[in-house]
Amino acid sequence: MEPAGTRQAVKNIADPSKRKKVEDILNSCVLDDATIKKIMDVFEDQVRLANTLDPEKRKQSNLLWECTYVQHLLTGQENGEYIGLDLGGTNFRVVRVIMKNGEATTTTKYYNLAEDLLSGPCQNIFDHIAESLEAFLREENITSTACIPVGFTFSFPSDQKSLKHSVLVTWTKSFKCPDGPGQDACVMLEEAIARRKEMPVKLDVMARISDTTGALMAGNYADKKCRIGVILGTGSNAAFVERIENYNKFDGKDPETKQIIVNTEWGAFGDNGCCDFYRNEFEKEVDQYSNHVNSFTFEKSFSGMFLGELVRLVLVKLVKGGCLFKGKSSPELMKRWEFPTSYVTSIEDDTDTSENTWKILKAVKLADDATEEDVALIRETCAIVSEKGAKIVAAVLAVLLQHINLPEVTIAFDGSLYEKHPKYSLHIGNLLAKLVPTTKTTMIMVKDGSGQGAAFVAAVEYQPSG
Ligand code: BGC
Repeated sequence: MEPAGTRQAVKNIADPSKRKKVEDILNSCVLDDATIKKIMDVFEDQVRLANTLDPEKRKQSNLLWECTYVQHLLTGQENGEYIGLDLGGTNFRVVRVIMKNGEATTTTKYYNLAEDLLSGPCQNIFDHIAESLEAFLREENITSTACIPVGFTFSFPSDQKSLKHSVLVTWTKSFKCPDGPGQDACVMLEEAIARRKEMPVKLDVMARISDTTGALMAGNYADKKCRIGVILGTGSNAAFVERIENYNKFDGKDPETKQIIVNTEWGAFGDNGCCDFYRNEFEKEVDQYSNHVNSFTFEKSFSGMFLGELVRLVLVKLVKGGCLFKGKSSPELMKRWEFPTSYVTSIEDDTDTSENTWKILKAVKLADDATEEDVALIRETCAIVSEKGAKIVAAVLAVLLQHINLPEVTIAFDGSLYEKHPKYSLHIGNLLAKLVPTTKTTMIMVKDGSGQGAAFVAAVEYQPSG
């Protein structure tokens, strides 16, 4: 990334001492090429540790490098009706997929997740899921007499024991139900379904996956070259298709197995301090005031739950240094977590008139004090912080691409940050082309792929129990 001093908004600052202060603050958000290379090397080291044969050594890595037990991609021969359930973002989704000779017809519905559910007993969340599922089955008139296979996207770090069974390691994002860690998501789901006496159809919950695996499956449905699924939403993570001979954590005995989907859980990269060399004071502060301190360090540098707060902290520092609004702030700007990522995406989407930036300045009650120079500096701050985030993501994605080592790879993205940020995909794509020139990389968006992919996993892995 170019040093902050080369940016137009910074160059235009007339007062040299103010310009110097701005440069110092913004430069801490700039990633140079050497740091990007170091992120790749450190990530590779963590991958090596996570994938060693020795389970004790694996503990030295922050990466779960989880075996998903998903061994098949869609072949185009699938038939039948499948349900995907998707818990992990800001709302809960139910997806119905009907497959006819590999062609999918998909219906998705969203269900609100009240905030108090996220910190109460798990049973409340799972009862809500079962209730929403029942409502969906009735609204969609699903009356099949056959048992419907269900794939469950449960997007939290879990120790996966089999395709179906997993143990929640820790909550992330906004979830913090105290009785969650240690529990099995599919068991909690089955118990909640059993508590509803009037389910209109029989359901067979057969897989727990991560949203990354879902995005990968949905991406692979759209494009057979898809080998990586990435979530850039509230949190972040990636899964990829690994050759079985390169993976040491699969205890399946099937000699036919050629490949396995690995869920990296890269959000936890850096929890042991190995990323501290690139983390600035703003990233450290975001962590200190987050729901899960010292946990899931990596995603706090860029994902949707944190990007707005990162920008806000930089703006506050600029104000305190007298570089914005003549040093005067507003209570609105000073409130933690009250500068959502949607502000950043909207400012990044601005045109020459800076209309969106002015609207946001009104929302934080600073429009009356702002000058054109302030507006330009706010826009530059959003641009620099966003660019750093996107480049961090590209650095670790580059390692996965090198690992996959194919001439052409498609990466499927799902999540609100990727969808709504006007420049993230551009930054990621440009850096990937530079870092991995031997792979022609295509990036696609698979909206709601995380839930649809759960139904696809059900379609490829379902084996009726009787
Ligand atoms: C979770 C991952 C998930 C990601 C994206 C992270 O906080 O740990 O399991 O895939 O968010 O939703």
